[in-house]
Amino acid sequence: MRGSERALMLRPTTPDDLLEVRALFRDPAFEGWGGPGFRSDSQLREKYLGARLPDVECFLVEVDDRVVGFTQLYADGSGAGTDLILLPAERGAGVGRQVVEALLERIRASGRTHFVVDPSPEDRGAVAFWRAVGFRGRGTMAYPLQETDEQQNVVR
Ligand SMILES: CC(C)(COP(=O)(O)OP(=O)(O)OC[C@H]1O[C@@H](n2cnc3c(N)ncnc32)[C@H](O)[C@@H]1OP(=O)(O)O)[C@@H](O)C(=O)NCCC(=O)NCCS
Repeated sequence: MRGSERALMLRPTTPDDLLEVRALFRDPAFEGWGGPGFRSDSQLREKYLGARLPDVECFLVEVDDRVVGFTQLYADGSGAGTDLILLPAERGAGVGRQVVEALLERIRASGRTHFVVDPSPEDRGAVAFWRAVGFRGRGTMAYPLQETDEQQNVVR
């Protein structure tokens, strides 16, 4: 079933989510996320459980009430940047696209001026994903939030 047919939720993390965030971040796919190796509990608390609000908003990605990944929105001047990672078994089914759509809703509702992502240029899969869901540019990729961005191919 494509992701668009399943119920997706971005659940903001709180300090009460340590166990769920820890279980997710122990998956081998998370090795190297946010620094070399795996994150310790104190790093998880510092970075991913809401301690950096309002500058960094962290979310568990849930599909049909199961935790399938993690995403964050960070302040980038008057705009926002994002990071996203899904558990390997959950990839390729449209969930990533659904997450971006949900993030875009938040970005638009909050009146932010731009939305960017910084995939490693060597990570062809990630670059192809961000391109497929509408981001443009090389290096820092930007989503054309306004029509003029699309027309002028503005990449901030
Ligand atoms: C990148 C990631 C979030 C994509 O999520 P996903 O659920 O697998 O992506 P989707 O199934 O929603 O795919 C959306 C589109 O991106 C394309 N896409 C996704 N991964 C791709 C890849 N590795 N290579 C080429 N295209 C890809 C899909 O073909 C799809 O295009 P379409 O809708 O035109 O058919 C997920 O693979 C992941 O967690 N990867 C590891 C972490 C990572 O690389 N994060 C981004 C770093 S900045």
